[in-house]
Amino acid sequence: MAITASTHDLQATRDWTPGHCLPQALYQSDGIFRSDVQMLLDDQWLLVDHESRIPNPGDYFLFEIGEESIIVVRSRSGVVNAFHNVCRHRGSRICLAPEGSKRILTCPYHAWSYDLDGRLRAAHLMPEDFDRTKISLEPVNIGVFEGLIFLNAAAAPPSFEEFVAPFHKLVRGQGVATAKVGARKLYPTQANWKLVVENFFECYHCNTAHPTYCSVHDRMKMLAFGAGAGSGDDVAVQEYEEKLKIWEARSASLGYPTGMFADGPENPFFRSGNRLPISDGARTESVDGNPVAPLMTAYGEFDGGQTGCVFNPVSAILVNNDHAVIFRFTPRAPQSTDVEAIWIVRGDARESADFRPEELMRVWDTTLREDKTITENNQKGVNSSAYRPGRYSTQERRISEFADWYMGRREQCLEQSAA
Ligand code: FES
Ligand SMILES: [Fe+2]
Repeated sequence: MAITASTHDLQATRDWTPGHCLPQALYQSDGIFRSDVQMLLDDQWLLVDHESRIPNPGDYFLFEIGEESIIVVRSRSGVVNAFHNVCRHRGSRICLAPEGSKRILTCPYHAWSYDLDGRLRAAHLMPEDFDRTKISLEPVNIGVFEGLIFLNAAAAPPSFEEFVAPFHKLVRGQGVATAKVGARKLYPTQANWKLVVENFFECYHCNTAHPTYCSVHDRMKMLAFGAGAGSGDDVAVQEYEEKLKIWEARSASLGYPTGMFADGPENPFFRSGNRLPISDGARTESVDGNPVAPLMTAYGEFDGGQTGCVFNPVSAILVNNDHAVIFRFTPRAPQSTDVEAIWIVRGDARESADFRPEELMRVWDTTLREDKTITENNQKGVNSSAYRPGRYSTQERRISEFADWYMGRREQCLEQSAA
């Protein structure tokens, strides 16, 4: 991917000291924002939704990131396709509503129409030498893992199989593939996407910002792994180890997977995954630890575990025994990020009878509303002339690695464009 950078942006990149927050321009600049979006779309597989959102042929939704709009649509044969939402005539947006169902995709400008597999079907009054069989919507790469839809927009995408390989073992048998969307909510956040992601990569703020979340989770676990594998303090990890081993032995005897991994900053994907207990006696991540939906897993019994998968810095899922929460952090503008949470439940669970959305959503809805406030306050401070990048704590190891990863990716893109 080629990116261009202004002298000011280049200087900002050089001004960074490892172990510290990023320089101000990296949270503000238009040019850096545009190259960030391109980098995410070309280098990553972005988790956009669960397949159950578009169950029937013709069902579609839009994925909007930066200036890009992508149509994700189920074809007549049942596969999920994705196309840039850009007409091949004069470039108009084709689908305007954020979701819906269509037999064909018709451009609202001059009515060129496309099949659900992207081929141009009709274009009236075109010259005789116009060959419509040669025209299709610009495709976007799709990968589906456990019912989760991932997108990549590169001409030569990274291998999807290699990308998902470390997650197979961790999520097996937990019902994600056959689940359905039970609730969703958008938290538009007036902050740069990296501030949103950094906040998600640490639990240093949990004590001050998240009373509900802290009442649900084991205190020592939050210190050790509050924001996933590799996020916490080494001493806390050691202290928590014995408790974790005992819980893992019981989970394994029930058939559940165990384990954890975290990519280092040199890995292009920056993934991590783990299975951890929520807290003593809790069966799921709910206010009182009791289930909020029917058991989703194939193991017949609750083990009170939570599988965390961070697919890349902007895509994650937390899988409990009875429900899961998908997290999307989608950059929209230099200081605007669409934080979206999607709660999934067992495919046959009935709303009201088997689950109540407000109960299902409570812990993360509360937490994400708190996160929106603190992240927006963070951006306001970063915008001040008095902002100086501060030092990370031992509870912010994963952000420090994220900063290393991000700056490494930027460096590589700048080198490629210079070459
Ligand atoms: S721009 Fe789409 S039909 Fe003209
Ligand atoms: Fe938080």
